Amino acid sequence: MDTVLVTGGAGFIGSNFIHFLISSSSYNVINLDALTYAGNIKNLSSVEKDSRYRFIKGDITSPEAIRQLVDLDFDYLVNFAAETHVDRSILAPDRFILTNILGTQNLLNLSLQKQIRKYIQISTDEVYGSLGREGFFSENSPLDPTSPYSASKASADLIVLAYFKTFDLPVNITRCSNNYGPYQFPEKLIPLMINNAVKNKPLPVYGDGSNIRDWIHVDDHCRGILQVMEKGRSGDIYNMGGNSEKQNLELVKTILEILGKPESLIRFVTDRKAHDWRYAVDYSKIRQELRWAPQVKFTDGIRDTIAWYLNNQDWLEEIVSGEYQHYYEKMYSTR
Ligand SMILES: NC(=O)c1ccc[n+]([C@@H]2O[C@H](COP(=O)([O-])OP(=O)(O)OC[C@H]3O[C@@H](n4cnc5c(N)ncnc54)[C@H](O)[C@@H]3O)[C@@H](O)[C@H]2O)c1
Repeated sequence: MDTVLVTGGAGFIGSNFIHFLISSSSYNVINLDALTYAGNIKNLSSVEKDSRYRFIKGDITSPEAIRQLVDLDFDYLVNFAAETHVDRSILAPDRFILTNILGTQNLLNLSLQKQIRKYIQISTDEVYGSLGREGFFSENSPLDPTSPYSASKASADLIVLAYFKTFDLPVNITRCSNNYGPYQFPEKLIPLMINNAVKNKPLPVYGDGSNIRDWIHVDDHCRGILQVMEKGRSGDIYNMGGNSEKQNLELVKTILEILGKPESLIRFVTDRKAHDWRYAVDYSKIRQELRWAPQVKFTDGIRDTIAWYLNNQDWLEEIVSGEYQHYYEKMYSTR
């Protein structure tokens, strides 16, 4: 059976994708991950003994790690490996440029050398910049990234497309809206709010909380990635969205309501620099061409997600008591 090399598979979406591949397909999976602060090998404890799964610790920016991959057989490469937190990219952009741009180029060179069947770049709708009240991003919307994070992802996308046009490398790019679900690192909005609410700690909301994000359950995203990998037209970009636009404040209030906690826990904090106001994608292309559409209703998905974090307090506690605590204080305590 074919083998999928997943890079960044110990993070939030990558680990969900590996669970999905092992449970719903017959692919073999190799997971290469540097285990940065955001990578957690425990996300994969239920598959680690599966004969179809193999883990390699390695950094996509390191020539040594790439050399190791040259000796392996794989048919597809799905690249999730990235620095992903916008706030961290504002504090310290260097690592974002290195991993997200140069790391991607290393994987493209590897893919050319190995003549693989398809390279999939997991990108984001943030490459399109910010919307006003009206409209949606299509695959043809201009790239207009705001943060060092989104600029590094947009740069990587352009390099991926250049390898398709120049070297005929079969590639696809997926650009997805905000994901939620199990195993998300608790610096991101939904697990951060759940964790704080459970502990009766203040819930920091940027600005006036009016910013709008479209939320997609990670299971829907993973299903779409596999469809793009198997059936996507080479060289094409596919947007994926969740059909669930929410203002941040509305989302935080929903979480408090489900947990039975008071809205008095909400604290408005100084807004993020250059905070994009609204993201929303038009995903009619993937719906028409690959028959993909999100299936998880937000009202169900958010309840299941909250239940998962409540049932996995040990997982959460191990993270929030480590390096993250220091970062959290730096981000929010002085605002
Ligand atoms: N989370 C979202 O809402 C969202 C939405 C759209 C797109 N994306 C994209 O999806 C991908 C995965 O996002 P996520 O939320 O799962 O991220 P994450 O931060 O949870 O995980 C990133 C993973 O990459 C690994 N990694 C980082 N640098 C590496 C390096 N140099 N070499 C090897 N591994 C490295 C980390 O150890 C971690 O396991 C990213 O490319 C991100 O841009 C995320």
